[in-house]
Amino acid sequence: MTEQKATNVTWHAHKVTREDRNKLAGHKGAVLWFTGLSACGKSTIANEVDYRLNQLGKRSYVLDGDNIRMGLNKNLGFSAEDRSENIRRIGEVAKLFSDAGVLTTTAFISPYRADRDKVRALFEPGQFVEILVKASVETCEARDPKGLYKKARAALASGKGMGFTGIDDPYEAPEKPELVLDSDNKGIEELTNEVMAYLTSAGLLSV
Ligand code: ADX
Repeated sequence: MTEQKATNVTWHAHKVTREDRNKLAGHKGAVLWFTGLSACGKSTIANEVDYRLNQLGKRSYVLDGDNIRMGLNKNLGFSAEDRSENIRRIGEVAKLFSDAGVLTTTAFISPYRADRDKVRALFEPGQFVEILVKASVETCEARDPKGLYKKARAALASGKGMGFTGIDDPYEAPEKPELVLDSDNKGIEELTNEVMAYLTSAGLLSV
């Protein structure tokens, strides 16, 4: 639990409600929380969903692991503690975005179940959509777009290791995600279609 350091702070209830903002947008605000191994396709699918939503005239935004780690979270590394703090901050940011009436996609490995569940607890039911982008380590390692799996294997062989998720650091898959995308066997377009179908059926694209 993160300690509340500031004292003498009071929560202000604002006059414009989330419902008011949703009405203006013509759809609901929510977070689509993509989770999975590095190179499983999270960012690519999140970006594609964002693009489709934008084309449909919906308010959307992507919060992406590598990008956020170059700004807001540049002081965080990949220890368990730092990954937890990374996810906590993103969860809070995603909550603000979704309260503002934005369909927010997030693309972070978010390897620990407890951290994702803490983020889920910030949201009302239906506002947090957990999407597991399922791909085996073998698939991700064969893709290896950034050469990081190669580095992680070399680090492991040299006896040091680099704490890379899926190689020498854990990944805890969600037990009850809203959606599972089979990235071992399906392409980006088909998986994007599955996300869009979910959003429609869950009523998130209308007020
Ligand atoms: S998380 O574990 O805290 O959720 P996040 O999604 O922000 O991770 O960042 C993961 C990205 O950082 C990977 O896609 C990869 O490009 C890079 N990266 C660098 N070092 C590591 C590492 N040790 N483990 C996982 N990803 C790493």
